[in-house]
Amino acid sequence: MKVCVIGAGYVGLVTGTGFAETGNDVVCADLAEDKVAALHRGEVPIFEPGLEPLIKNNVEGGRLKFTTDVDAAIADAEVIFVAVGTPPRADGAANLMAVDAVAETVAKATRRECVLVMKSTVPVGTNARVRRILEHAGTTKVHVVSNPEFLKEGDAVNDFMRPDRIVIGCDPEDEFARDLMRRLYHPLTLSSERIVWMAPASAELTKYVANTMLAMRISFMNEIAALCEAVNADVHDVRVGVGTDTRIGPKFLYAGPGYGGSCFPKDVTALIHVAREHNVPLDLATATDAVNQRQKGVMLRKLKQAFEGDLRGKRIAVWGIAFKPRTDDIRESPAITLIEGLLAEGAKVSAHDPEACENARQRLGDAVDVVDNQYDALTGASALVLVTEWRQYQNPDFERIKDALETPVLLDARNIWDTYGLGKQGFTYLGIGVRGS
Ligand SMILES: NC(=O)c1ccc[n+]([C@@H]2O[C@H](COP(=O)([O-])OP(=O)(O)OC[C@H]3O[C@@H](n4cnc5c(N)ncnc54)[C@H](O)[C@@H]3O)[C@@H](O)[C@H]2O)c1
Repeated sequence: MKVCVIGAGYVGLVTGTGFAETGNDVVCADLAEDKVAALHRGEVPIFEPGLEPLIKNNVEGGRLKFTTDVDAAIADAEVIFVAVGTPPRADGAANLMAVDAVAETVAKATRRECVLVMKSTVPVGTNARVRRILEHAGTTKVHVVSNPEFLKEGDAVNDFMRPDRIVIGCDPEDEFARDLMRRLYHPLTLSSERIVWMAPASAELTKYVANTMLAMRISFMNEIAALCEAVNADVHDVRVGVGTDTRIGPKFLYAGPGYGGSCFPKDVTALIHVAREHNVPLDLATATDAVNQRQKGVMLRKLKQAFEGDLRGKRIAVWGIAFKPRTDDIRESPAITLIEGLLAEGAKVSAHDPEACENARQRLGDAVDVVDNQYDALTGASALVLVTEWRQYQNPDFERIKDALETPVLLDARNIWDTYGLGKQGFTYLGIGVRGS
């Protein structure tokens, strides 16, 4: 099948490569010339485990191409995926400028009956909005379908190839679109039926509800972590005690520095915004966001407390800048909030990340020393903060850390070091909701 994917970012690249891997003829089109030039040189502009060899294999097999010529990529495509960004506006709503621009381009450039698939996360009503744009342009042969993406950065290739479910919002009477989507996804549904069909509005809402529910679990546990500290309980034990209840399950119950990334924060606020527009109170989602805003300050509050309120002139080492392990994505990362807070307090920062150093240098400039070796971040530092739980940070050389730090303060924002008895080794150990922290 001739597939066009518009937007070659985290979602577009994985989607395009995944469909090429299952034998389709795929063109990924992106306006960013540097990104496409890198892809032409065989470089993958993002870090996503397992993606690079898959791209290479499919480019060599002639099934995957990249271009900045969006019109040409659209012209003969049977199916066009929209995977452009939908970042938050200042009022919390999703910014649909790129989505609208793509709809207009499709209206102008398509030369055949085709299906336009909305993979970007978009608010309820966007499917109808895109149809209006197409109708206004006099286009009648484009079928519009909503197919929200649920991949997780860091495990995106696996999520694409083995999805829990494939949500497709499609008019029940649109046989053309249903048949095409069924054929396209058939290789991913061989072991079991995974497509959940529904109306476009329900599909659009499903994505936001899923992310908000996951975010809600995290915010709830972050509040419980604060209560644990107040009553000398341990959030680890509470998490295990609660998560082993099969009605609840163990995932997304980890207390930490607040959720970040390019999805949860913006999707929660976009859902709140949609509800507000329809005069529907969404108190739990609103509280989820408010708790997270507060939680993103927890590391700075703990550090200030450890240094009697004064961080001026102190150097703080930060391990982990990406919003989670196995990605180089630093969008809305709690580490960035911490670093900016430290700088505002007059502290100096040395930071390390296995994959996100380049993005961090671009974002933070000279204000922060971004170093390529994790132990180099410790030189002259008064404390070490573990923000992102990359594997290489999980059992480090604590003797070396103690020798390098000017004062032995460890803030473990992921609660992964608390079992090492670091207090007995002479450290001041701080966690999030763990006993003694
Ligand atoms: N990143 C994730 O984990 C994830 C998961 C599920 C859903 N989503 C959703 O998928 C969408 C894309 O997210 P992402 O993280 O891949 O974004 P991204 O910023 O990594 O990529 C978007 C790409 O679209 C390109 N683009 C923008 N306007 C364009 C246009 N008019 N024509 C061609 N290309 C254009 C940009 O240059 C960029 O390369 C968003 O709506 C996001 O909410 C993201």
